[in-house]
Amino acid sequence: MTTMAVRGGRPLEGTVAVRGAKNLVSKAMVAALLGRTPSRLRNVPDVSDVGIVSSLLTLHGVTVRPGDERGEIVMDPAGVERADVADINAHAGSSRVPILLCGPLLHRLGRAFIPDLGGCRIGDRPIDFHLDALRGFGAVVDKEPDGLHITAPTGLKGMKLSLPYPSVGATEQTLLTAVCAEGVTELSNAAVEPEIMDLIAILQKMGAIIEVHTDRVIRVTGVPALSGYTHRALPDRIEAASWACAALATGGHVTVDGARQADMMTFLNVFRRVGGEFAVADSGITFWHPGGQLSSIALETHVHPGFMTDWQQPLAVALTQASGLSILHETVYENRFGFAGALTSMGATIQLYRECLGGLPCRFGQRNFVHSAVLSGPSKLYAADLEIPDLRGGFSYLIAALAAQGTSTVRGIDIIKRGYENFESKLAGLGADVS
Ligand code: EPU
Repeated sequence: MTTMAVRGGRPLEGTVAVRGAKNLVSKAMVAALLGRTPSRLRNVPDVSDVGIVSSLLTLHGVTVRPGDERGEIVMDPAGVERADVADINAHAGSSRVPILLCGPLLHRLGRAFIPDLGGCRIGDRPIDFHLDALRGFGAVVDKEPDGLHITAPTGLKGMKLSLPYPSVGATEQTLLTAVCAEGVTELSNAAVEPEIMDLIAILQKMGAIIEVHTDRVIRVTGVPALSGYTHRALPDRIEAASWACAALATGGHVTVDGARQADMMTFLNVFRRVGGEFAVADSGITFWHPGGQLSSIALETHVHPGFMTDWQQPLAVALTQASGLSILHETVYENRFGFAGALTSMGATIQLYRECLGGLPCRFGQRNFVHSAVLSGPSKLYAADLEIPDLRGGFSYLIAALAAQGTSTVRGIDIIKRGYENFESKLAGLGADVS
């Protein structure tokens, strides 16, 4: 387990660059499987989730190599082949992406395999929507002790599907399968996150026909074959917001090169309501604490265009420094306040509730899920010995340690490498005292 010592109490000052969004890049890499010619993806961050998808593609006969520019990869799917189930299980352990290989592999090979899925422990994270979608296309799912074996004995055919919830992954699953399915697929209650729009742009470059309607309806007309693409991944708005929250919590001033206003409108509104300031430039966004008191707020996470669940944890750390009561209602995952205990041990005042403390329709109310929080601030934070629970919670621990008085020990920082590129050197570049 890798450990970081963080001597807190210094404002973060300086510039960091964010590259492509992990949550688009991994799906864009899967899309390359659908092409008859090589694909070229740019702005790929050096994070471990990208390494996992590279290994999975390689296992399936795709050649993955660096391209000409830094952060470019070239994927050649000419030799797509079946992978050994044990190898898939060995490589996939810590990622949810393998499930998205199903549609492309069914199209290319007529069969696919889903291992026991990993990903962050932030709730049950079921895959029922994915399996319902695959079955809707005509796939047959067999549960075996080693995982799920999926076949398409009569091919994949377009269909109508309404998702019970606008799931990001299930929307991507449907898109990646529908593009080459026979006929038209109509998906209602689809997720419309910017990363999904970027995936749609990639699929369109490959030859797909996809219409996005204003009411969460996406219509895909299947085509017999797709070619490779060249694409620059959209910037990582979760990482950008994480640095913004780190600037706010430490009383600092951080320019995030690459951050894009259009993808972060909702975050920027909240940042301003809390009392943070920002300036948007062509090349990125600068975030800073203007001095004085921060304001408490009531906030609910939601699917896009709502406030992202992945922005919630880093913002919660900054809210420990706001004066008054802040109320958070998490409506995307049932278990995303795992980090609250650690913050409390550092001096924050946080009460967790099973009730919905907000007005958004939520699947977790009255079901015993602790999914609302009340933070009372401002609280002075003190150093602690912390063990990272999940990716976003983990980065939040780092922010808390940076804002705290004294030297914290943060264990398990490898989890952070799943989604934050070179964060150790970025922290050092911002003047953080870490080792
Ligand atoms: N859900 C189901 N059944 C399903 C699929 C989802 O009940 O078959 C539920 C989930 O349990 C959850 C909700 O639907 O309560 C939303 O899940 P969604 O499918 O939208 O999430 P995901 O595709 O698994 C992606 C990101 C997450 C991000 C969410 C929401 C990737 C690899 N992961 O997950 O990112 O929080 O969308 O925006 O794209 C992260 O980056 O740290 C991270 C967790």
